[in-house]
Amino acid sequence: MCFLTPKRNAAADLIMNEKIAVGSDHAGFGLKLEIIKWLKENGVDFVEMGCMDGSSCDYPTVAEEVCKKIIDGTVSKAILICGTGIGISIAANKIKGIRAALCTDAYTAKYTRLHNDANVLCMGGRVTGPGVACEMVEVFLNTEFEGGRHQRRVDLISSLEK
Ligand code: RB5
Repeated sequence: MCFLTPKRNAAADLIMNEKIAVGSDHAGFGLKLEIIKWLKENGVDFVEMGCMDGSSCDYPTVAEEVCKKIIDGTVSKAILICGTGIGISIAANKIKGIRAALCTDAYTAKYTRLHNDANVLCMGGRVTGPGVACEMVEVFLNTEFEGGRHQRRVDLISSLEK
């Protein structure tokens, strides 16, 4: 269960007229449910994607389906969860326009927004507990890209896709 209680209506804090997507493989399914509970409690608009029942599925397929929602503009950001967070982040980063960050705490979730303009937050369902996970989601959704010198570096990342 998530230990973060909604302090006020957190939706009012979120820098979002945004919709997000949340997906996991079987190893991330339990944590996905915890995050969905937090999103509901905090009034965040989201779409849940595979897997839907915890049965075995392939994380690259989930990453592709979820990231396509960012690329086609259906959602602005996404959360992806597998067992370690590693496989699903590797897969997501193969997709042009995706900057997926595997995070383990609020600090990394904050700085990947500030400096990398990450559009996908990845985490490991077998690594990260629900309290830290929900804290990361809150920080990730509430932090804006800093731009400036970081824009140049993000542009250089994009140029690697060509
Ligand atoms: C599934 O067993 C596991 O390999 C997957 O969830 C992930 O951890 C891969 O990186």
